[in-house]
Amino acid sequence: MRIAVIGSGRMGGALGRLWAARGHEVTFSFSRDRHRLDALAKRAGPSARAGEPADAVRDADVVLMALQWHTLDDALAAAGSLAGKVVVSCSMPMTPDDSALAVGMTSSGAEELARRAPRANVISAFNTVPSELLAHLCDSGPLPEANRPSVAYAGDDEGAKAFVVPLIRDAGFDPVDAGPLMVARYLEPFALLIAQLAYETDDGPEVGYRFVRP
Ligand SMILES: NC(=O)c1ccc[n+]([C@@H]2O[C@H](COP(=O)([O-])OP(=O)(O)OC[C@H]3O[C@@H](n4cnc5c(N)ncnc54)[C@H](OP(=O)(O)O)[C@@H]3O)[C@@H](O)[C@H]2O)c1
Repeated sequence: MRIAVIGSGRMGGALGRLWAARGHEVTFSFSRDRHRLDALAKRAGPSARAGEPADAVRDADVVLMALQWHTLDDALAAAGSLAGKVVVSCSMPMTPDDSALAVGMTSSGAEELARRAPRANVISAFNTVPSELLAHLCDSGPLPEANRPSVAYAGDDEGAKAFVVPLIRDAGFDPVDAGPLMVARYLEPFALLIAQLAYETDDGPEVGYRFVRP
C-alpha cells in the first residue's frame, strides 16, 4: 500500500519503518525539520521517502495521523483534502501539557478528527501501543505468533477496516475489531492505562496487551 505518514516522530516514524520493512511505500511528512524526515526515510529503506503532506496524501491508499493534538489544525491544513481516504489515527487528544484527555466521555479524539475531516474514513488504532514497543519491533522483528500483542481498533467503515487490518498485522500485532468509531471513547482512556504501565512502573515502556478467550 501507499502510506502517507502525517507526523513522523516516535509513533509515525516507527510505524512507517515497520511498514516500509514489509514493502509498503511510505512517505514521511509533517516535520519542522526536513533533514529529520530525509534521515528517517533513509533509515526506513528503499520503499520509504520524505515528502510534503499534501503530496503524500494525494497518492496514498492510507494516511496515518501521528501528531500532537495541538498541531491537528496545522496538520489538516497541510494535508489538504482527505476526502475518501482511509485515515488511521493513533493521535491522542491530550491537553497542551500532555497531562489529561482534552476530549472524552461523550466524544473522542478520533471522532473529533472525523468531524474535522468529514469525508475521510477514520479508524482509531495504535494509540494503545507505546512507541518504545514499536521501536523494539523495528529493531528485533515481530514477537512469536503465540505472544503477539493485540491492537484494538475502531471505525465506522468496514471497507476502511479491511485496509487497516493487514497493516496492523504487518506492524507485528493481532488486530481486534472493537466496533464503531465511538468506541474510541473507551480506547483512548485505555491508552492512558497502557501509558501508566509503560512510564510509571519500573518494568519499562516496551509493553503490549493481548486479549484471550477460553
Ligand atoms: N509516543 C507514544 O508512545 C504514543 C503512544 C500512543 C499514542 N501516542 C499519540 O500519538 C501522537 C504522536 O505521538 P509521538 O510520541 O509520535 O509524537 P512526536 O514524537 O512528538 O511526533 C510528532 C510529530 O509531529 C511533528 N510536528 C510538526 N509540527 C509540529 C509542531 N508544531 N509541534 C510539535 N510537533 C510537530 C513533529 O516533527 P518535528 O519535531 O520533527 O518538527 C513530529 O514528527 C500523539 O497524539 C500521542 O499522544 C503516542
